[in-house]
Amino acid sequence: MAKDSYKEKLKILFVDDEEGVLRSLGRLFFDEDFVILTAPSGTSGLEILKSNNVAVIVSDQKMPGMSGAEFLEKAKRIAPDSIRIVLTGYADINAAMDAINKGGAYRYITKPWDDNDLIITVLNAIEMYKLGKENKRLTELTRKQNEELRKWSAELEGYVQQQTIDLTNQNKELQKLNTRLRKNIKEFILTFYNLIELRNKSLYIHSNNVATLVSDIVQKMGLPDSDAEAIITAAQLHDIGKIGISDTVILKNTKEFSSDEMADYIRHPVIGQSVIDTVEDLRHAGTLIRHHHEWYNGNGFPDKLKYEKIPLGSRIISIADKFEKLTFGSSAQEETENALIKIKLLLGSQFDPDMFKPFSEAARNRTTAALPEAEEKVEVEMKPGDLAPGFVLSKDVRSGTGLLLLRKGAVLNEKSIETMRRSYHIDPAKSGVFIWSKRRREKA
Ligand SMILES: [Fe+2]
Ligand SMILES: [Fe+2]
Repeated sequence: MAKDSYKEKLKILFVDDEEGVLRSLGRLFFDEDFVILTAPSGTSGLEILKSNNVAVIVSDQKMPGMSGAEFLEKAKRIAPDSIRIVLTGYADINAAMDAINKGGAYRYITKPWDDNDLIITVLNAIEMYKLGKENKRLTELTRKQNEELRKWSAELEGYVQQQTIDLTNQNKELQKLNTRLRKNIKEFILTFYNLIELRNKSLYIHSNNVATLVSDIVQKMGLPDSDAEAIITAAQLHDIGKIGISDTVILKNTKEFSSDEMADYIRHPVIGQSVIDTVEDLRHAGTLIRHHHEWYNGNGFPDKLKYEKIPLGSRIISIADKFEKLTFGSSAQEETENALIKIKLLLGSQFDPDMFKPFSEAARNRTTAALPEAEEKVEVEMKPGDLAPGFVLSKDVRSGTGLLLLRKGAVLNEKSIETMRRSYHIDPAKSGVFIWSKRRREKA
């Protein structure tokens, strides 16, 4: 559009009181592509300027009424962009200076002029006018673009601010959801854990002891928090699959199992995994539970996995589980060392040899820093007649002739108490029945 406006013919205004001069000036530009306007006086020149966009004004200095300098000064106010030239006689240089200073004339041309000089001066003025216009156009364009940019920048800033606010809110919402989710998962774990306690006290104590030991082992191994958390959860719940198994099977030594009982028993890791599998976030722990009875050499169950195919967490739980079974109810150093000797013999077959170092360190720590459960317990010898359901045995109970009646860790119920009373009557043992009693904490 700007280019098109330059295609319009530019206008040149000649102002002179002599008609002959105006004619000869017009003739000079006859062949040029301009519109030529003429005025016989300053006053009529100003009128023309009011209704025309004039690119170049050429005015005589010496005119009656209004001088060229005066006319150009007024013309400057009406058409500030036009380029002004004054025509003056040799003797009138001061007046020409006046026109330059007051009227902002670009140049003066002396009379009589040289045609070529005059044409070149006017054409240069035309170029100057065009440059001025182009400069003005570009300045305006830049101003508009800057304004647009400022507007965009402000909008963008607002948009970014809004996005930041939205993201912050979303983040807060996610954090809240995450906290709620973690709380829910913790509640699930606690519910499962309580279920074990309700089902069988000794199974609960066993799970608790294994979890405490496993927690120490993973800490010594420096495992990342997320892995450690899943392994400890799996350790807490590793035998949850046993809650569906009968008491006799839970309390019996595996060597004493009938084939049916053994079939029941070996299902507990898979049952445990299926219980946990209902909670998506516990699925990793569920996998660790499934494999806690795999043997390092592939002779375990349920999948007969071998070596590193067995998840690391399951290998850790497996060794801690065995140790807990060997030392259940006691944190005595002698029992710990005996259990470590037995476990050492099973490295490479049942257990991963690499687990032994962190495991044995954690196990030995356990003897110097007794478990809270053990701290609260004290062993008490009781007559069979004084026993009550819920008591936990601290030692195996054998008849006078050495027949194993119940294993340590068993929780007594009416039936087992009755069995013991009868046995003590028929085949009396030398000592009473040893049970764990909770030591009362003294008030601080
Ligand atoms: Fe188990
Ligand atoms: Fe276990």
